[in-house]
Amino acid sequence: ASAQNKVTINAGDGKTVISKHIYGHFAEHLGRSIYDGFYVGDNNTKIPNKNGVRLDVVNALKKMKIPNLRWPGGCFADTYHWKDGIGPKAKRPKIVNTWWGGVTEDNSFGTHDFLNMCELLGTEPYLAGNVGSGTVQELSDWVQYVNFEKNSPMANLRQQNGRQAPWNVKYWGVANEAWGCGGNMKPDYYANLYRQYSTFMNNKVGDGKIFRIASGASDNDYTWTETLMKNIPSTMMEGLAMHHYSVLSWGEGKKSSATQFTDEEYFKTMQQALLMDELIEKHSAVMDKYDPEKKVALIVDEWGGWYNVEPGTNPGFLYQQNTMRDAVLAGSTLNIFHKHAERVRMANLAQAINVLQAVILTKGDKILLTPTYHVLEMYNVHQDATLLPVSVKSDDFTFGKDKLPAVSVSASRDKAGKVHISLVNIDPTKPQEISVDLNGIKSSGLTGRILTSANVRDHNTFENLTKIKPVAFNGAKLSSDKLTVTLPPVSVVVLEL
Ligand code: AHR
Repeated sequence: ASAQNKVTINAGDGKTVISKHIYGHFAEHLGRSIYDGFYVGDNNTKIPNKNGVRLDVVNALKKMKIPNLRWPGGCFADTYHWKDGIGPKAKRPKIVNTWWGGVTEDNSFGTHDFLNMCELLGTEPYLAGNVGSGTVQELSDWVQYVNFEKNSPMANLRQQNGRQAPWNVKYWGVANEAWGCGGNMKPDYYANLYRQYSTFMNNKVGDGKIFRIASGASDNDYTWTETLMKNIPSTMMEGLAMHHYSVLSWGEGKKSSATQFTDEEYFKTMQQALLMDELIEKHSAVMDKYDPEKKVALIVDEWGGWYNVEPGTNPGFLYQQNTMRDAVLAGSTLNIFHKHAERVRMANLAQAINVLQAVILTKGDKILLTPTYHVLEMYNVHQDATLLPVSVKSDDFTFGKDKLPAVSVSASRDKAGKVHISLVNIDPTKPQEISVDLNGIKSSGLTGRILTSANVRDHNTFENLTKIKPVAFNGAKLSSDKLTVTLPPVSVVVLEL
C-alpha cells in the first residue's frame, strides 16, 4: 500500500448543512420502473403490497432513508397529461409512451397513486410539470389539485376522487430537458416560457412556499445556465437543474456493458463521474455572478452511470445491472455533492428501480439490492449533517497516460455530535493507505463499515443476492490526532467517530 494519501479535516470550519435532498431519487414511467417495479397492480395477491405498491420496496427505501422522489419523468413528463391519471381506473385513457419503448400506458398509476406512495415511503414528492406539450392552465390546475385545501374547482375534484386533505407538494419541476426531449428549445425561448408557467403556479404550500425548479443544462452547457440566470429573477426560480450521466457514447448498443466492461471503459466511466466536480464548479461560478447570495439552488436532478441494456431486454427500457463500479461511482459523486453543499441542495440518482443506475432490481416476487443501494444506505448518516471541509492529497489511479485521483473523502458532523467520514478508493487493483489529520476532533470510539469485492465487475444476482453487502471494517486505526485507514482496491468505507 502507498502512504502518499493525506487528508486534513477542518472541523472548526463546519457551517454548511448537507441537505438530505441530495440523496434524492427518480421514478419515471419508463420500462419497469413504475409498472413491475414500484407498482404491481391493485389486485395483486402474490406480492405483498399496499394499494399495488410493493412493500419490500417500501421497506428497503425507508431503510435507505429516501428523502425525495421525482416523478413522472424525465422525457415522459413533457408528454404527460395528469388528468389522464385521476378518477376511476377503468375509465382512464390509454396512451402510448412515445419516448420509452412505444408501450401502452394505461394510466393506472397516477397522481393519487404516486403521492400516496410518497406518504407510505415518508419521502417528499418532486413533481415534474409538462411544459413541452402541456398548457399553462394544465400545470396551474395540477398545483391547485394537489395543494389547495378547499373550495376551488380542482380541490373539489380531488375530494370527489377520494382525497380530502391536500398533499402539500413543495418541489415542482417546470419542464425537463427543455433543450432536448422537452421541446428542443433555445435557452432564451425557454426562459420566457419558464417565467410564464411559473407565474401561474400558486406559490403557497401549507405554511411554506412552493419550490420551482427550472429545467437545466446538460453537462457543460454553461450558456444555458447563464441565459436562465440572466433572465429569470430568483423570486421566480428557487432551483435550477443540471443533468450529467457517466456514459461513454450515446449510440444504441455502443455504451459499455454494465458488467463485462474493459479496464479502459472502467477508467473512462470514472473520468466521466469525477467530471461532476468541474461541472458543478463552473455552473456554480456562472450562478454566483447573478446570485452571489446563493438563493437559487443547483439541482442535479439526473445523474448516474448509463450502460448498454442487459442482453435480451428491451432497449427502450434501460434495464442494466449494477456492479462495484457503480458503488464507487456513487460514493465519489456523493462526496462531490457534499463539497458543493452550499449551492447543490438537491440531486436525484437516475433511477430508483429497474432503470439505469438503480438501487433496486426486481424479478417476480424477488428484489435485489444493488451495490449502489448499499452505498446510499451507508452514506445516509451525512443527511442534514454539517459538512466538515476536507483537503485531500491523493495518489493517482493511472491508465496509460491518463490519471485520476484514486481516493475521495468527505466528512460531516451530525446533530448528535458524531463525526462520519466516507472514503472511496476507485483503483481496481491497488489498496490505498490514507493518513487523516483529525485536527482536534474528539472521538469516543471508532467503528466503520465497508463495501468491497475482489473484482470491480462483481455484482449481486437473483441467484446470489448478498455477494456484495456492507460488513464491519477493521482497516482503520486511531492514535491521538491521527487516523490511518487502508482501503482495499475498489471499496467504499464509512467511519463513525
Ligand atoms: O433517465 C432517462 C432519461 O434521461 C430521462 O427521461 C431524460 O430526462 C434523460 O435524457
